[in-house]
Amino acid sequence: MLKRTTDNAKSVKAAEAFLRRAAKLLRSPREDAEGGLRFGVDLGTATVVLTAVDEAGSPVYWDFARCNAVRDGVVVNFSDAVDAVRKLKAEAEAALGIEVEAAATAFPPNVPEAEARACRFVLENAGIECRVLTDEVSAAQMLLRLSDAVIVDVGGGSTGVGIVQNGKIVLLDDRPGGGHHLDLIVAGALKVSVEEAEDIKRTGRKDLTAILRPGVERIAASIQSQVGGRTVSSVHLVGGAVRVPKADEIVERFLNIPTVAYPHSELVTPFGIALS
Ligand SMILES: Nc1ncnc2c1ncn2[C@@H]1O[C@H](COP(=O)(O)OP(=O)(O)OP(=O)(O)O)[C@@H](O)[C@H]1O
Ligand SMILES: [Mg+2]
Repeated sequence: MLKRTTDNAKSVKAAEAFLRRAAKLLRSPREDAEGGLRFGVDLGTATVVLTAVDEAGSPVYWDFARCNAVRDGVVVNFSDAVDAVRKLKAEAEAALGIEVEAAATAFPPNVPEAEARACRFVLENAGIECRVLTDEVSAAQMLLRLSDAVIVDVGGGSTGVGIVQNGKIVLLDDRPGGGHHLDLIVAGALKVSVEEAEDIKRTGRKDLTAILRPGVERIAASIQSQVGGRTVSSVHLVGGAVRVPKADEIVERFLNIPTVAYPHSELVTPFGIALS
């Protein structure tokens, strides 16, 4: 038991170092990448993200585009999604000086197979061969490499949960609720538009801890129902929505389970996809 906890501690440190390095590579590639590059495309509800890692599995480059063409893994506007990927591909090729021929992509756990396939078609229509189609939580685990834990990906629209035992994902689930719900709470409390609420939340120019506590507790309640009666040693929060202040503390207190939040948590799944 003690060994497993130590294993997780090492993994958390390595993931934090990866993410701090990765965050600096927005639109500016690392010069000393080793060997051939592997790419990932995350078709998210809030953003589409293109990432690159080298042969050693170290981060090399990333870029994002705001795009409303995908909602919780469902491609609702095919041509806008293709345009966003095409633009990210062209910019990556200009920055890296090589062609983005193939990439992995991912869908939220539990989306129907037909919807998951649509993610593949988006890449193909943007001129990228889809080398791997995986689920987002398994992708996050490719970066986190935890031995026993619960991984929670709180994105714009939904919360994906994966239970990891002995390094393998044994249970996957996805429920509505994420950053967009937090925006609705802020908009209601401050009587501003949802767009303004999103801006206040992202820039942190107002302390929203008290306003957002019920929203974060709702995410925690969703994690609790997905975990069910299983004994879990720690919860690992990834995805952009958990960047709100004290998200880890609130979840930890609600679930009474040690909870880890990662720096630049919105990059875990996108880079995990490139590593898949
Ligand atoms: N610095 C920040 N502070 C607070 N919230 C943030 C921050 N950055 C991003 N977010 C929130 O994170 C959410 C987007 O997260 P992410 O990029 O992981 O979602 P996505 O992958 O596009 O969506 P999904 O996984 O649900 O399809 C948005 O609701 C956004 O408001
Ligand atoms: Mg996501």
